[in-house]
Amino acid sequence: MFVTSSFLPPLQEYVQYLEKIYLSGILTNQGSLVMELQEKLHQFLGLSTETFHCLANGTLALQLALSALDINDGEVITTPFSYVATVSSILWQRCTPVFVDIEADNFTIDASKIEAALTPLTKAIMAVHVFGHACNVDEIQRIAAKYNLKVIYDGAHAFASKLNGKSLLAYGDISTLSFHATKLFHTVEGGACIVKDKTISDKLELQKRFGHDGDDHIMLGINAKTSEFHAAMGLANLPHVPDIIAARKKVIEQYDSLLGQKIMRPKQQPGLEYNYAYYPVVFQSEKDLLRIFKALNNADIYPRRYFYPSLNKLPYLTGAACPVSEDIAGRIACLPLSSYLEEDDVERVCKIVLEHYRNRSC
Ligand SMILES: Cc1ncc(COP(=O)(O)O)c(C=O)c1O
Repeated sequence: MFVTSSFLPPLQEYVQYLEKIYLSGILTNQGSLVMELQEKLHQFLGLSTETFHCLANGTLALQLALSALDINDGEVITTPFSYVATVSSILWQRCTPVFVDIEADNFTIDASKIEAALTPLTKAIMAVHVFGHACNVDEIQRIAAKYNLKVIYDGAHAFASKLNGKSLLAYGDISTLSFHATKLFHTVEGGACIVKDKTISDKLELQKRFGHDGDDHIMLGINAKTSEFHAAMGLANLPHVPDIIAARKKVIEQYDSLLGQKIMRPKQQPGLEYNYAYYPVVFQSEKDLLRIFKALNNADIYPRRYFYPSLNKLPYLTGAACPVSEDIAGRIACLPLSSYLEEDDVERVCKIVLEHYRNRSC
């Protein structure tokens, strides 16, 4: 049992879209399935005037977001508690990441510490809705407006999460998504940018396809397009998302009821409509985590240390200490979660975890 199992739609539903590709002969370069997926995702997520760009993956989405907003040098305030792609995108844009520690209760960037980290070189804030939990969007917006900074939300985990009835992806200048196979909604590989401003969106549109329009070479670009085959998987998956979320919710509720108060979990903020994307648990110590991992692995169960290490500790970076993130990263893991998990599977995982706690208190 792995940390997740990718959802696969009934084969015939996927094949219907593949037949359309074979009929059109169009495999990539903004074909009709990519357009259809963009429109349907925009609608599904309840977005309004924002523009939706389906892209090759969530990492290029972050890089393009920075580039479209002209963040090509200077400092970017970011979180040390994320997947490495958040910080690698900043480095690929030749910017310097400046880490601000995280909130202890939901692991998002601690907005109350951002102002102290600003310098005359700061150009943007890149925050992450970790595990689908919302950043302090109001405070981040207040700081951005006061200091004239751009805001990018890495929403790789935030598909279908809402705050006070509004998609989390509608916040910031640009929000990004990952549609990697391990995500709640996937296109095998894929990602997206949701862009607030029309001019920035037009720039991103050009940059995602090499920066030229026909023979007119306008600006530096990259190839971040997605293909019709990836869009086909997305179109086949999308109608199943409500059932996928409901199934994950059921698994999470079972985990919660079996594990009880024994293990620390992120705290859900008021107004958050959660997407049940992950099941992170924080053990009492790294030693506990390693012991539990050994017992689970012996039973063919493979949770993941997600996220580890704290990104300020990456060997190719020098960053200030982030004690909260370093502490959490040392003892957090995501337990198996997918829409395919059976009650027996969850019971098996919990039994091993709880056994460890029983032995510990003897
Ligand atoms: C928080 C976060 N940001 C960015 C990414 C990168 O997305 P992708 O794998 O689609 O490039 C991931 C992938 O897991 C992620 O978890």
